Amino acid sequence: MFKTVKITHSLSRKVMSIFLVAITAVMFSSAAMSVQSLRGDSALDNKANKIVKHKVNTVEGGIKRNFKLQPPLIPHTTDKYQISLKNNGCMKCHSEKAYKKEKAPKVGDSHYIDRDGKTLEHVSSRRYFCTQCHATQIKDNPLVENTYEGI
Ligand code: HEC
Ligand code: HEC
Repeated sequence: MFKTVKITHSLSRKVMSIFLVAITAVMFSSAAMSVQSLRGDSALDNKANKIVKHKVNTVEGGIKRNFKLQPPLIPHTTDKYQISLKNNGCMKCHSEKAYKKEKAPKVGDSHYIDRDGKTLEHVSSRRYFCTQCHATQIKDNPLVENTYEGI
């Protein structure tokens, strides 16, 4: 008696798993068929789909600061530089080691000081995510008139 129960149990499990596999297969194939890109059917090399490359006007010599202790604006593009836990793309040029060779301004000395006032050998974690304070600014006509004057 015990044996038959066991057999029917494992049999029903087999039937169930076949059933599940079949359902998943049907779901996946219908999902694949219904996916459509926003571009529609037109091919990638279609002229209308070409990405327009804008020329970005960087600001040579940097951008004047508006108030004391303002984090200076970034006068160059930054889209190619990544800041992650393992790698800080900005420090390839702005670090103590590299700045001379790259003719870039060195990060402020304040960037090496930790919260206890100790000067570190590497940039402090408080200053690690550069774009938290420094924003990119390009040379372009302002979209709206602005009468703001710096100090
Ligand atoms: C390939 C080298 C290079 C990399 C990488 C780089 N920079 Fe620069 N950066 C420069 C140079 C060169 C200047 C000076 C430009 C000038 O004055 O014409 C500069 C200027 C600046 C300034 C202006 C400083 C001032 O006193 O006006 C800031 C802020 C800055 N960079 C931040 C960043 C940040 C943040 C990143 C990463 C997202 C970064 N940079 C990545 C080369 C680099
Ligand atoms: C918490 C805000 C903050 C973060 C994060 C930060 N900065 Fe700064 N940065 C400042 C301020 C404020 C100044 C101006 C005063 C000073 O030097 O401390 C400055 C100044 C600078 C200068 C000009 C230094 C000089 O002597 O003229 C450079 C270059 C710079 N930062 C690059 C960086 C880079 C690269 C990173 C990322 C590794 C970074 N900063 C992260 C706030 C920040």
